[in-house]
Amino acid sequence: MTTDLATDIMVSLRHATAGPHARLEQALGLLKGVPDRSRFIVFLERLYGFHSRLEPALLRQSACAAFFQPRQRLGLLESDLIALGCADSRLRALPHCAEAFGLVQSDAAATGIMYVLEGATLGGHVINRSLAGLPWMPAEGLRSLDPHGAETGAQWRAFGAFARDMQAQTGSEPILRGAEACFALLADWLRPAFRS
Ligand code: HEM
Repeated sequence: MTTDLATDIMVSLRHATAGPHARLEQALGLLKGVPDRSRFIVFLERLYGFHSRLEPALLRQSACAAFFQPRQRLGLLESDLIALGCADSRLRALPHCAEAFGLVQSDAAATGIMYVLEGATLGGHVINRSLAGLPWMPAEGLRSLDPHGAETGAQWRAFGAFARDMQAQTGSEPILRGAEACFALLADWLRPAFRS
């Protein structure tokens, strides 16, 4: 048994990524001032290019694929962008983050990465609620930011159980490294969406 099993992986993940999360949230500044449509389009376009390369890699990891399969968000990102008025030709021409595929080297790394993706739904739930009623918002909201809706808490607990099982098999370190690497690459990739 490895010694790093003593601390709950969800506590360790939160601790390890609190700084990067705070910096990313601040740099994006999505809710500062009156949130405008064009800023959310750029944000979702960058997420689209990230998920397009990350999701196929997560689905290749044997222990994670079944858990991740219903949590894919690429289709939701695409339909949100279309609902926001993004033309099909523009969608097809969006850049993709090739390095995202290489982040996923193991089931443990994939678990750390899924922590980042699933955690983003907590903030996304808050964001989606605060955007409700704005004239440019699609009637059903931005589902790619808030894919679980009323189930957000339950889905987060389900992810916690999955991560703890993985921790019991691999220890904490490779899961933490996966989450840190994902935050670092995502923050770099999202730079065009930062508030200037
Ligand atoms: C793509 C960008 C983002 C990523 C990857 C991300 C990631 C995460 C992660 C991993 C967590 C889980 C923290 C934990 O372990 O409890 C989290 C929570 C949260 N995030 Fe973000 N986040 C992002 C953007 C934002 C933004 C822009 C906001 C601003 C509203 C935000 C607000 C929150 C809130 C309110 C929580 C819940 C904290 C709690 O329940 O105590 N996030 N996010």
